[in-house]
Amino acid sequence: MLEKFCVHGGTPLSGTVRVHGSKNAALPILYSVLLTRGRTVLENVPPLRDVTSTLELLSTLGVKWERRPDGALELEVLREDGFEAPYDLVRKMRASIYALGPLLAKRGRARVSRPGGCNIGVRPIDLHLKGMLALGAEIRNEGGYVCAEAPHLTGRRIYLGGASGSTVSGTANVMMAAALARGTTVIEHAACEPEIADLARYLNACGAGIRGAGTPVVAIEGVSELRGCKYRVMPDRIEAGTFMIGAALTAGEVRVEGARFEHLAALIDALESAGACLQIEDDAVQVSSDGDFRPVDVTALPYPGFPTDLQSQITVLLSLANGISVVTEKIYPDRFIHVAELNRLGANVRKEGSLAIIHGVKRLSGAPVMASDLRASACLILAGLVANGMTEINRVYHIDRGYHRIEESLKGLGAQIERVPVEADSALLSLVPDASPELRERLGEYLQIAAAP
Ligand code: EPU
Repeated sequence: MLEKFCVHGGTPLSGTVRVHGSKNAALPILYSVLLTRGRTVLENVPPLRDVTSTLELLSTLGVKWERRPDGALELEVLREDGFEAPYDLVRKMRASIYALGPLLAKRGRARVSRPGGCNIGVRPIDLHLKGMLALGAEIRNEGGYVCAEAPHLTGRRIYLGGASGSTVSGTANVMMAAALARGTTVIEHAACEPEIADLARYLNACGAGIRGAGTPVVAIEGVSELRGCKYRVMPDRIEAGTFMIGAALTAGEVRVEGARFEHLAALIDALESAGACLQIEDDAVQVSSDGDFRPVDVTALPYPGFPTDLQSQITVLLSLANGISVVTEKIYPDRFIHVAELNRLGANVRKEGSLAIIHGVKRLSGAPVMASDLRASACLILAGLVANGMTEINRVYHIDRGYHRIEESLKGLGAQIERVPVEADSALLSLVPDASPELRERLGEYLQIAAAP
């Protein structure tokens, strides 16, 4: 179903919101189930489109899964004959590259469609391949697929730094593969993101020997078998950060439960520097502001730097500051497609290479806009919450990949936001009443792309 968000701006967010489980922690953990025998029970896996696509792929690889009534996911590998992540699934979700390490380590072979670029940049996988080669795999590139083979993997020292620094998915992929390798693997220049530490905690609970995850040097003592276990996925720091920015931006007062200070220190510092008031608790952060913001310079960097996944959202807040802020993107230098849409709402942001130069304005004013990717959608929703009048955000399907019913969470905080079907689409879809959900979704995507300026 093709949908859009209609947001009436001007209401301060107020109350309490609980964040869901982390998408970017849940995805590699789901793939690492391929390494295990026996049953795994995962709590706090968010019901998102990327998770559904992952489960679809895991099913084709012999994993039986079900969502229990309490929301937990039960998974078990029943067959180990599949070894392919086909283009059709990878095209929907880049994270399918996570199939590479586990399939290679457990089944001796992997054939994974190479992910292409996306709206936030080129997104190479050279470091993933460097890691697999170092562990002893033979790798060929065939018809857009990475084909990797190895009768067994052998632990090694692997330097995983690239031109843009560390890689989150590359570190996770090598860690998963090395968990079943012979001997010890040491990853140098590993990504330090909390999602990497979460994956290591799950793997260790299954019997792996991983030390140092969450620091730049990770040591993995290979074991011969991993047994499924019960595990609770960490809370989503990016969803938490999005609500925290929303609270400050709308001059509201919100308690974000599940927001952990240690995961959000860079954002907390930026919000305090801009003039917001924050109170830190064990499992929550409370944010309030009077809506009067100082300019702040922010640089998106690997963890513990400011997260690139909150770069577009903080840009909204800085576009209303009293002065000039500079936002620098060091991870995805092209992740600025939201800038043109924000300017449609009256912001004054100029992109210069990998910088956004933001001249603060007094107010934003509602207009129809197009979301271009997951976090840019969140940025436009936040802008709509503070803009005068109505903002219409098209291409909602992007946001459903990473935020579970964001409009429900925001409505709980008093926001005036509705998810509404797009009429032209309903008219067209009525011409094909028997269309499968998949076909309806594809038609919706094509229509949104066709409608793009
Ligand atoms: N890079 C390479 N070679 C590689 C891999 C990465 O040069 O082999 C470069 C990338 O081009 C980029 C930098 O290294 O410049 C970092 O990329 P990384 O591999 O860390 O990103 P990722 O693992 O593909 C994850 C998240 C992204 C998040 C980034 C950075 C998942 C599924 N995705 O991507 O999340 O932006 O880390 O923190 O975990 C999102 O949730 O909206 C999202 C895009």
